[in-house]
Amino acid sequence: MGTILSGLRPTGRVHIGNYFGALQNWAKLQDDYKCFFEIADWHSLTTKYENTSNLRETILNTAKDWFSVGIDYNKSVVFVQSDVKEHSELHLLFSMLVTLQRLQRNPTVKEMVKDLHLGKNVSYGLLGYPVLQAADILIYRADKVPVGEDQLPHLELTREIARRFNYLYGNVFTEPEPLLTPAPRVPGMDGNRMSKSMNNAIFLTDDQKTVEKKVMQAFTDPVKIKKDDPGHPEGCVVFAYRKILDPEGSKEVKKECKAGKIGCVECKKETSRMLNVFLEPIRKKRKEVEKLGIMEILKDGAAKARKAALETMKIVREHMSLW
Ligand code: TRP
Ligand code: SF4
Repeated sequence: MGTILSGLRPTGRVHIGNYFGALQNWAKLQDDYKCFFEIADWHSLTTKYENTSNLRETILNTAKDWFSVGIDYNKSVVFVQSDVKEHSELHLLFSMLVTLQRLQRNPTVKEMVKDLHLGKNVSYGLLGYPVLQAADILIYRADKVPVGEDQLPHLELTREIARRFNYLYGNVFTEPEPLLTPAPRVPGMDGNRMSKSMNNAIFLTDDQKTVEKKVMQAFTDPVKIKKDDPGHPEGCVVFAYRKILDPEGSKEVKKECKAGKIGCVECKKETSRMLNVFLEPIRKKRKEVEKLGIMEILKDGAAKARKAALETMKIVREHMSLW
């Protein structure tokens, strides 16, 4: 059985973009792989280090959302990154094997710097987070890493680090491969990438009324004003949701929209109804998950993860002739 590791930064509220982009896929992989899923709290510090007062609550809520969508702590090892301190030791050792220049080339980091308007104020931690990510992956000697396209540069770096380590100190690491499953791009209500910080997300924990309101406000086709105006579903957020929820049925909607046979209000109503049908079982499960001892589950996961991480670190130290 192959080994998988993947992670997400804790946000506290998982949105449907996270679900269709990652979690749905993770849930499916659980039967075929030994899975490690980490709540990457150290990674979230790379950009949100100033105010950490909510971090614990954020982590717990993130775990609740994961468990509500079928991430199963009986099948997979679910843990908090900072609970397994060995990641930081491996990160430190790896940091010697990577040049600054190499890190400065990373397009995903560059984009983050741009989005956050950091200019030259890039911290050592932010620049080096892909190295930490390499440690996350390699410490479990994972052979597959399910990620979105934006994470591919980090995986390439992970492979380089594994190769460099093996060349210098002997064969310890396998070079992990990305597991790119075609995930639909889920736009936020305003048409940009869905993100909690952009205030354009539909959350798994949104109630029925909130979902209806959000879909009503969603960006559609600005030139379709009256029902019989022909529309352009390709650029329409509501249509993007519709396509994800009902791939077959959306073909008919596309035709009707283009032909001016359906109005946006009607189309939005049907789409939010479908979204609510999709979210209802998740909401129900969330209620049950609320009753669990989340902290204990995560501590238990960390103990299992640590066991694997310690084994790797022992081998690493031996190969490097460390103390
Ligand atoms: N960097 C990832 C993100 O920002 C999260 C992450 C941390 C991760 N460690 C990982 C993803 C290891 C895959 C494998 O979403
Ligand atoms: Fe979008 Fe539906 Fe309006 Fe077409 S009818 S523009 S698909 S909301």
